[in-house]
Amino acid sequence: MAEPKPAATETEISRDRLAELLNEDLSREYQAIISYVVYSQVLKGAEYMDIADQLEIHAKQELDHALTVSRQIDYLGKMPSVTPKPVRTSEKAKDMLRFDLENENETVRNYRDRVRQCEALGEFAMAEQIRQILMQEQDHQIDLATALGEEVPNVNSGPQSRSQAKGR
Ligand SMILES: [Fe+2]
Ligand SMILES: [Fe+2]
Repeated sequence: MAEPKPAATETEISRDRLAELLNEDLSREYQAIISYVVYSQVLKGAEYMDIADQLEIHAKQELDHALTVSRQIDYLGKMPSVTPKPVRTSEKAKDMLRFDLENENETVRNYRDRVRQCEALGEFAMAEQIRQILMQEQDHQIDLATALGEEVPNVNSGPQSRSQAKGR
């Protein structure tokens, strides 16, 4: 198979590196499934009933994302990861929503990078799959920010500024 054309510095990436990064994404999807499964059931209080229902919907969407991402990793000839990123817990509803929002912010940042990286490799169909996921992640961000009574944070930044965010 032909080598991919050299990409611009900003998006320079190999197929192997893309598979590694998608495995990080998959670990974040597992983290999201677990936290939404748990938080949706333990959030208490009349003011949180709506968001608890929404979190239950998020849980199912995150499972779909995990399946889509695993399929892409397999397509790239790699083994999908089996390990979630760590899930934080708290007794407090606000903390749970805050953890979810922070994770979604990280997820959105990463998928924005991933779309650029897929396109740099000429993997346009894969980029499209990631875009579909990204649309739902942004909805999750909005749901959580709204429940917290906050603006949706601006998480735009350069594609290479966050490779150090390990273990989160
Ligand atoms: Fe997701
Ligand atoms: Fe999400």
